[in-house]
Amino acid sequence: MLRQILVRLSQQPQLRDFAAHNKLARGMAERFVAGETLEKAIAVVRDVNARTMSATLDHLGENVTSKQEAIEATNAACSMLAALTSAGVDCNASLKLTQLGLDLGDELARENLRRILDQAAESDTFIRIDMESSEYVDRTLDIFYRLFETYQNVGVVLQACLYRSAQDLERLIVAKARVRLVKGAYLEPASAAFQQKVDVDANFVKLTEMLLADAHYPAIATHDPAMIAAAKRFAAGHQIAASSFEFQMLYGIRRDLQTSLVAEGYRMRIYIPYGSHWYPYLMRRMAERPANVMFVLGSIAREVTARGT
Ligand code: FDA
Repeated sequence: MLRQILVRLSQQPQLRDFAAHNKLARGMAERFVAGETLEKAIAVVRDVNARTMSATLDHLGENVTSKQEAIEATNAACSMLAALTSAGVDCNASLKLTQLGLDLGDELARENLRRILDQAAESDTFIRIDMESSEYVDRTLDIFYRLFETYQNVGVVLQACLYRSAQDLERLIVAKARVRLVKGAYLEPASAAFQQKVDVDANFVKLTEMLLADAHYPAIATHDPAMIAAAKRFAAGHQIAASSFEFQMLYGIRRDLQTSLVAEGYRMRIYIPYGSHWYPYLMRRMAERPANVMFVLGSIAREVTARGT
């Protein structure tokens, strides 16, 4: 119930401005977001690299409503790629198609992505298309397949919560595409997605095994120790080298687990978001873990008590 409320709140653009000026929300965002500027983000990438982990940078933004915003987001992605190249860091990029104008038309998003892929190809940088809510999956995959004919440096994400993902994965495996597997961060109807954690987890394990057995450098993106243990078990049981896949986690979450997996010899990539449009991202992170909300409510209570009001 709390998760549903928080995910719904993440979709309220009016709250974005309120959050941007709210001290508590900004403080909370600092835990999950590298900062508002590219310079701060690159500094965090360097820290992550120093911990012998790779990174993927996400210039935050989604659901733009004008062509101008879509072009600005594309320009920002190109500037980010140039900065990554000149910094010489171990980092690729993640982006969302609604940030590149998908709500305004497939062609706009596709041509903006093509511009980014052209630039990324020059420095051999990989671009990951994040997956958004289920209503975007068909169009996201269509754009991916169209561009994958020309560009090898692009991959997609599948969500274990969706019934369709096993079928989507079979097709991606045949195409030899690079896939990141996640549980899914959006509120989905029972007609499209498993509603119980136990079913999402079972599907995550099934898709992980398909990916590890057949796919091309897959990314298992989760903080769930049970999912990680299942991936490790399957890899060990099928002589799959630790260098042929990677685990991925979000910046600010389970740093202890990130470190211990690297110490065991696994590859780890940290997803690092930055920029000023952090509100929907922050709300999805809050929705994933009620304790985060309790932390914020606790801070408010302490502030109110301290003020004696
Ligand atoms: P689960 O939610 O079961 O959490 C397992 C444990 O992890 C929790 O018990 C807690 O300890 C810790 N944890 C999880 N979330 C936390 C949080 N917010 N704060 C503190 N602790 C937390 N989704 C999507 O729909 N499209 C996408 O493109 C992506 N991309 C993506 C990239 C990467 C690198 C990651 C790691 C995740 C995504 N996601 C995503 C988000 C994903 O769908 C999912 O919502 C989160 O990863 C949380 O699910 P877990 O697999 O961690 O399991």
